[in-house]
Amino acid sequence: MKLKIQNSDTCFSNAKKALKSITLIGFMLVLLSSCDYNRRTTGWDYAGDLIESRAYETYTENPVFKNGRTMQPPVEGTIPRGFMPYQFQKTDEDRALAAKTLVNNVENTPENIERGKVAFGIYCMQCHGEKADGQGSLYVNKKFNYPPGNLLNDKMRANPEADIYHVITVGWGIMGEHGSMIEPADRWKIAMYIKQELQK
Ligand code: HEC
Repeated sequence: MKLKIQNSDTCFSNAKKALKSITLIGFMLVLLSSCDYNRRTTGWDYAGDLIESRAYETYTENPVFKNGRTMQPPVEGTIPRGFMPYQFQKTDEDRALAAKTLVNNVENTPENIERGKVAFGIYCMQCHGEKADGQGSLYVNKKFNYPPGNLLNDKMRANPEADIYHVITVGWGIMGEHGSMIEPADRWKIAMYIKQELQK
């Protein structure tokens, strides 16, 4: 009787051992099968549509359009929403023309002048200096070798706000354009701050 119990015990533990190794082998198989030499795919996935878009991707080929591309250029003669085309070029003639033509519609309030001061501090001060006298830290520390304009001289005092607006928008001489980073209202506010506070 005792022997029988022993036998069934060993039998049971053998089955347990076998089960363990089968589970281990199974686990190893799943583990190994999830390895893939192709690093461009995620292997098996459970929601393929979420990973691989069924729509055409921006840079893929496209049989629908004549030129075979998914991304199409904007229709000719159209402008993106929120963008105003600027009609003046970076030339001396256009600078003079812009100064005469452009009209500042930004209200002359202390808040707007204050905003102009902040924007001047962000975009102009490093070259033109806190007082706009052309002694900005980049120039004084010789990081920028060309003298930035002194915005307090007689010529600049005689020029209207629109002249500064134009220079900010397209740049002048070796100064690059700042139109792509400063929105139109802020350009006027900077011009107002220079004229009304710094040139005072
Ligand atoms: C990277 C340096 C730099 C920054 C930033 C910069 N400027 Fe200039 N700016 C110059 C230089 C250099 C000149 C002179 C260009 C020339 O003579 O060719 C100049 C010229 C000007 C002029 C014309 C001066 C004249 O005598 O006709 C105005 C106006 C002006 N900057 C305004 C601004 C304003 C406003 C900002 C900020 C939005 C600004 N600049 C940002 C370097 C800079």
